[in-house]
Amino acid sequence: MFFAQIRAVGCALPPYIVTNDELATHMDTSDTWIRERSGIVERRRVADGVGTSHLAIEASQQALQQAGLKGEDLDLILASTLSPDYYFPGIGVQIQHGLGCRNIPAIDLRAQCSGFSWGLATADAFMRTGRYKRVLLVGAEIHSRILELSNRNRNFSVLFGDGAGAAILETQTGEEVPTAQNCIRGLIDHEMGTDGSCAEMLYLRRPGNAGEPTFQDLGEVRSEASLAHMDGQQVFKHAVTRMCAVMETLLTRNGLRPADLDLVIPHQANLRITEMLRRKFDLPEEKVVSNIHKYGNTTAATLPLCMVDAQADGRLAPGKLVATVTFGAGFTWGANLLRW
Ligand code: ACO
Repeated sequence: MFFAQIRAVGCALPPYIVTNDELATHMDTSDTWIRERSGIVERRRVADGVGTSHLAIEASQQALQQAGLKGEDLDLILASTLSPDYYFPGIGVQIQHGLGCRNIPAIDLRAQCSGFSWGLATADAFMRTGRYKRVLLVGAEIHSRILELSNRNRNFSVLFGDGAGAAILETQTGEEVPTAQNCIRGLIDHEMGTDGSCAEMLYLRRPGNAGEPTFQDLGEVRSEASLAHMDGQQVFKHAVTRMCAVMETLLTRNGLRPADLDLVIPHQANLRITEMLRRKFDLPEEKVVSNIHKYGNTTAATLPLCMVDAQADGRLAPGKLVATVTFGAGFTWGANLLRW
């Protein structure tokens, strides 16, 4: 029996810090409003000249170094972003080239904020075939260039930051299917879901091929359609409902109580969403990772950034039973159960 284990994680964070006060110089907002509604204090922004693939490669190099491996040791790349360098091809191919990998497959996974969670499940599924032994999974985003720092986009643009995280997964072998009880280290189970009827509650329409005569807007003024649209209250409601439900499903199927978990790593959308999840499962604060105050919402990068932080502060240590739980545009959601 083959299955995946996370061997190492790495991250890349641009050094420039954007404070809430800086945002307030561009739009009618305030540090108090942003902190109270989202828990965000600051986020990162890349410099001109830096692409999403650069952050992805930097995070991957750090993860490879932690694992004592090189690009040529990998046999599959999974990359998730909603903010790629190019509309096509995706960043997977740039990562393959940038890391000096062999001509291995580099798959781009589009699942927005659920991208890393679905990537863990996908890596595990590939590894269970026995054919892939070392997989690189990357979540990377540059949101800052998509956001318009204006009043009309202020409910959206204060929430997001730039960053990347990566994990090296390696095959683990066992006599039995891994369970929470018998697994010493590795991915145990996952749950994923989609509700495409909500696609237009959180989406970026332009550029795109939804039916307009051109792929891109022409002209100097940015149209409403080329700004991300978010129905914040619907997103909030669905996020809480779906994240709680997917976690419940994972726990029940694995015969676990919330208290059996050593750590929960939720997608970092909003501190209030994380708090509702924490309270629903009656978990103490130290068991639920939160770093949204430092980085804002980094979409596909939030889970690995949390992993890097929790490893550094000692909460993520060998043998810990961990659940991840995510929700994002689509709507998509997911959860993973693993032994670190
Ligand atoms: N600064 C100041 N005021 C603002 C801002 C801002 N940045 N943005 C909106 N407002 C105003 C609104 O215009 C509105 O003013 P009005 O009452 O005069 O009309 C008022 O604040 C309240 O607006 P609401 O949208 O009702 O505010 P709400 O309490 O819902 O908070 C928020 C907005 C933070 C976006 C919230 O809905 C939310 O967190 N939703 C979840 C969104 C999310 O997490 N998205 C992340 C992407 S998806 C994901 O990762 C899962």
